[in-house]
Amino acid sequence: MKLIFIGPPGSGKGTQAKRLAAQHGVPHISTGDMLREAIAGGTELGRQAAPIMASGALVSDELMLGIIDERLAKPDAQRGFILDGFPRTLVQAEKLDTIVGDSKGNGSGNGAGGLRVLQLLVPDEAIVKRISLRRSCPTCGAIYHLESAPPAVDTVCDREGAALIARPDDNETAVRKRLEAFHRQTLPVATFYKAKQLLREVDGVGPVDEVFERIEKSLS
Ligand code: AP5
Repeated sequence: MKLIFIGPPGSGKGTQAKRLAAQHGVPHISTGDMLREAIAGGTELGRQAAPIMASGALVSDELMLGIIDERLAKPDAQRGFILDGFPRTLVQAEKLDTIVGDSKGNGSGNGAGGLRVLQLLVPDEAIVKRISLRRSCPTCGAIYHLESAPPAVDTVCDREGAALIARPDDNETAVRKRLEAFHRQTLPVATFYKAKQLLREVDGVGPVDEVFERIEKSLS
């Protein structure tokens, strides 16, 4: 499985990608998580990315391409992967073709191409509500929602017992900017894959389990 998740911020990419990756035994590669780890680790990449992410804008293609090139070269990604948050621009999509082979399976890269792309459809009005009630575990990355997917004990991770946090880019100003970046820079990526007949659209509204079923059905 070589799958790309495309969707606006808060559409459930991380929630669904983690589940699908566990089920199919392939790594879940989230560029947002990788950047947050770099920030937590105080690396040069994290130092450069932190203010850009906090504002809701996209990190430069140059930085992202370096990260993804390195990650996809690791042994665990050779059998497949689920990409969450990459590619987000046309430049990134074109580069991905050269890394994994042409999307139609003609290429070089690490093999057979065979990319599939799944776009989660969630209207903008639903996004702000989802994001304002999101909490995540800084230790294991588990994602909760205080209404629809709450932890057993408010603000404590079920798995790790760590105190849950709200992301710094989950304030209303940054969310609006993230939505704008999605519409302007990432929707053309969906069109790019649609033209190659690789894109499946899935309704992302409804209970998490139902959305997961729709995803599985669209992939089978
Ligand atoms: P990233 O971490 O990728 O954030 P995002 O795309 O904005 O997406 P989110 O993580 O906010 O949401 P999600 O779709 O994963 O939803 P989730 O499952 O958490 O990127 C952050 C930043 O990093 C970017 O803004 C950019 O600066 C930078 N960056 C990353 N990649 C980059 C790239 N390639 N190029 C340039 N810059 C890059 O769900 C959200 C909430 O809703 C949760 O609380 C969840 O519990 C809840 N929920 C999930 N499903 C449902 C449902 N069906 N019903 C109700 N609630 C639900």
